[in-house]
Amino acid sequence: MPSLYEPYALSDLTLSNRLVMAPLTRNRADEENAVKPMTVTYYQQRANAGLIITEATQVSPDGVGYPSTPGIHSAEQVVAWQKVTEAVHAKGGHIFLQLWYCGRISHPSLLPNNATPVAPSAIQPEGDAFTYSGLQPFVMPRALQTDEIPGIVAQYKHAAQMAKSAGFDGVEVHGANGYLIDQFLRDGSNQRTDQYGGSVENRMRLLNEVLDVVTEVWPAHRVGVRLTPENSFNSMSDSDPQAHFGYFVAQLSRRGLAYLHVLEGDMMSKTRQVDYRALRNQFAGTYMANNGYDRERAETAIANGDADLVAFGVPFLANPDLVRRYRDHLPLNEADQNTLYGGDEHGYTDYPFYTESTVAEPG
Ligand code: PHB
Repeated sequence: MPSLYEPYALSDLTLSNRLVMAPLTRNRADEENAVKPMTVTYYQQRANAGLIITEATQVSPDGVGYPSTPGIHSAEQVVAWQKVTEAVHAKGGHIFLQLWYCGRISHPSLLPNNATPVAPSAIQPEGDAFTYSGLQPFVMPRALQTDEIPGIVAQYKHAAQMAKSAGFDGVEVHGANGYLIDQFLRDGSNQRTDQYGGSVENRMRLLNEVLDVVTEVWPAHRVGVRLTPENSFNSMSDSDPQAHFGYFVAQLSRRGLAYLHVLEGDMMSKTRQVDYRALRNQFAGTYMANNGYDRERAETAIANGDADLVAFGVPFLANPDLVRRYRDHLPLNEADQNTLYGGDEHGYTDYPFYTESTVAEPG
């Protein structure tokens, strides 16, 4: 039976184990949306993961949706990311960059010229945007004109090239969690009547066009895709996730991608309705599972063949040496909820590595 702690051949990369650090937004980039030196330390500390997927990183200034999140479109951002990739590689780790465009999950105050956020359709998400002046209600987004879409696709291509210059091992296209690509995929947010809306073929067109250009820059086996068939986060819904995502996954399966990364179920409630084993079986390549896995569930999923890789978010954030802690059944650090988003090194690079003198927390 395969084990979580054994190496894994991810196409031409040999991962030292099957634990992946999931993408985690930490809001610690500088005013130019470049990562700071503390981010080099943060990722290097976690290079024991078989693979790191970076925090979501915007492909252009138009793609921003949160304060202090990094980009991959300027020379300064590339130089800053280079230090991260070098530090991770120096520890024998591997790292993919996640390519992000927020769409309607943004706010005019975050966008160039106070632009109105864009979306497939003018459907206002419920809830609030995080802005530099606190929470502000989401605004009614502007439906993209058909002829604007090639410009967005071109931004993904540019970002993919910049990610290559920065020394990443690959890129993950963020097609999940209610951001722009997912807004096109799911029918709760896409009510377009042009070739980007209506049928599953049409709703997948943006993702396909993005993958077409990204795989002109990277070989397909260095490109992953993240999907969330039933995550309600960011006001998302779909009328038939099993059927619709079954179609999307079967199409993705033909591309020879590095992996399919699925946030299974709902991020908040952790409930699931979709049959993920069935979905996984529609994808010929590497399947990465995520959302609420702990050591035992992950070990079981790998042993059963339900997943090839398991991505851990909060456990990796709080435990830089998560691989050792799980493998040796060592106690875990708890994540500090107050320092997840924004701030300095505290709650970022100061989570302790396990030492024999570490006092185990109860439970
Ligand atoms: C977040 O900032 O809360 C966030 C960002 C990207 C995601 C999910 C959540 O994919």
